[in-house]
Amino acid sequence: MGINTQPAPKLLVVGGGGREHGICWRLRQDRPHAEIFCAPGNAGITQVARTLDIGAGDIDDLVRWARSERPDMVVVGPEDPLIDGLVDALQAIGVPAFGPTRRAAEIEGSKAFSSALVTRLGVPAPAHETFDDVDEALAYVEDEPRGVVVKADGPALGKGVIVCGTPEEADAAIRRMMVDGAFGASGARVVVQELLHGPELSVLALSDGTSFRTIGVARDYKRIGDGDRGPNTGGVGSYTPVPDAPAALVARVEREVIAPVLAELRAEGRPYVGVLFAGLILTAEGPKVIEFNCRMGDPETQVVLPVLQGDFVELIDAAVSGTLDRTNIGPPQQAAVAVVVTSAGYPGPSESGLPIDGLDAVDRGLVFHAGTERQDGAVRTAGGRVLAAVGIADDLGEARDEAYAIASSIQFRGAGYRSDIAADALGMAVAS
Ligand code: AMP
Ligand code: GLY
Repeated sequence: MGINTQPAPKLLVVGGGGREHGICWRLRQDRPHAEIFCAPGNAGITQVARTLDIGAGDIDDLVRWARSERPDMVVVGPEDPLIDGLVDALQAIGVPAFGPTRRAAEIEGSKAFSSALVTRLGVPAPAHETFDDVDEALAYVEDEPRGVVVKADGPALGKGVIVCGTPEEADAAIRRMMVDGAFGASGARVVVQELLHGPELSVLALSDGTSFRTIGVARDYKRIGDGDRGPNTGGVGSYTPVPDAPAALVARVEREVIAPVLAELRAEGRPYVGVLFAGLILTAEGPKVIEFNCRMGDPETQVVLPVLQGDFVELIDAAVSGTLDRTNIGPPQQAAVAVVVTSAGYPGPSESGLPIDGLDAVDRGLVFHAGTERQDGAVRTAGGRVLAAVGIADDLGEARDEAYAIASSIQFRGAGYRSDIAADALGMAVAS
């Protein structure tokens, strides 16, 4: 029996960030009586789920828990356990799991694999080459005055991507990865991409291996500072819908990117079940893919799930049971804006354990916790991205005002956030 027909299914969500708070919150909305567990969760997640003292990367412990507790579904949030085969391990003990298998997750796990795939299929993408040899890589970037992006092949906690404006920067980036081993084995092989220019777009496609449904289109903000200045982060803001991605453009991405990639993975005997995240740049020649992720985005999830039409539990069940073609998802009726409140120092090292004030007084929108924990009865910071303040309204302007009103009402020492989230969508002046 699918979880869809059960009023109180037993669910386990793996992960403990803002994305997983968003997932747990939505599952709770759609199934008020469900038994929801989250491993490891965070202080905010305890409002909607029971947290377990098991890390998202502890595959053996997760499988042990699933073997004895027999959840009706496991929803895996982050990429690392997917790349490491958590879904395969759960399938092996007969526990349904939402997310790609190890081989399907290779689309994120190896940038060399995904680059070869887009070339083979003719998917629109930046020019790129893969290198195992440092001298060949250095020779390639020497003649690239227009700038390149150097990417470690393997997973590097979102840090293995270096945008290089000059050949000198590219030279240094390649040496850091291939000679100094800054990202360990993940950087022994690198992909060098052409540097593209244009706004970014995240498209989230839910797939059952054969059919797919786009469940969200969002813009996220990677740089720490206003006007896209400063170092890259895991993502410090997001919004949906995206006015410069009208339905025709999304249909083009579905046709030119999502559909051929899913068909190819299926043909290779690694059908993709879960959410395929296409990261794109909207260039003058049309949308081009710069990366694939094998899971939902963070902080895209925090804006996509609150406005997703339909029943998320039913959609997950349909994806896992191969019946997505029987479902229908209407377009979102509302807009959402997420402003991520960060600790001083982020994306570098930051202090943890600082008490957070103002959480109880928030009386509108949503607050999704990321790096928080409860200590001595108080909610304290526990990471660089602390929480996302999410405004939800009929239009982006109101959603943005609400998100900022919430963000400014939550305080801890050194709290910071960008002030220009969604400003581009509203035609507001942005410092650059
Ligand atoms: P990734 O982890 O591959 O998403 O890269 C992180 C960020 O680096 C992206 O969100 C972009 O801002 C930037 N980036 C990656 N690849 C490119 C590219 N080919 N051209 C321009 N910017 C890029
Ligand atoms: N927000 C980008 C990501 O989740 O990778």
